[in-house]
Amino acid sequence: MTGLYIAFEGGEGSGKSTQARILSKKIQGKLTLEPGGTELGARLRQLLLGVGEAPVGARAETLMMAADRAQHLEELVEPTLATGTHVVSDRTAYSSLAYQGGARGLGVDEVRAVNDWAVNGRWPDVVVLLDCPAGQGPRGRRSQDRLEQEGDAFHDLVRATYLELAASEADRWIVLEANGSIDDVSARVWSALAERFGWESS
Ligand code: TMP
Repeated sequence: MTGLYIAFEGGEGSGKSTQARILSKKIQGKLTLEPGGTELGARLRQLLLGVGEAPVGARAETLMMAADRAQHLEELVEPTLATGTHVVSDRTAYSSLAYQGGARGLGVDEVRAVNDWAVNGRWPDVVVLLDCPAGQGPRGRRSQDRLEQEGDAFHDLVRATYLELAASEADRWIVLEANGSIDDVSARVWSALAERFGWESS
């Protein structure tokens, strides 16, 4: 039996990295991230997010995120799922739909098509969206990387696009309130997934 491909999505400071780590430990899954889950991806991450790196236009940004993802799926995600291990990914192609498609204005459908090719049709089985108003998540905003430095209007569009995606694919998405203590949110995540997959809810 193949593992489950579980995505964590959300805006800056939503706490998704912490929650992805907690869940992956609990289900003994493979924790990974985009961009940056492979050796190639780590280099692309630096080029994409590093302040002071060469300018990257919106289309190049989309293609570089998709290249990171293509390598990630081929080198790590698919082989891990094939062994029956669950994969918990801190961001997936849905980040590109929200950030490049929605907030950068390239269009969700076009960005979806590029990414569908990049991932060879393999989209996450379930997406946990940790939702909060831009800049008001449990972790606050660190203002460190290039995308985190975008203004509130950009991050409002990211949030709105995520919520539209969740509404349009309701059977795949679980939308949870991001605010609360780490323990409260992880309990929320667990009970939603346990209900979805019939896991023992402890
Ligand atoms: P994070 O993983 O630390 O949240 O940072 C990744 C940043 O890259 C974040 O600002 C979201 C952005 N991003 C995109 O714009 N498109 C993508 O496809 C991915 C995976 C991330």
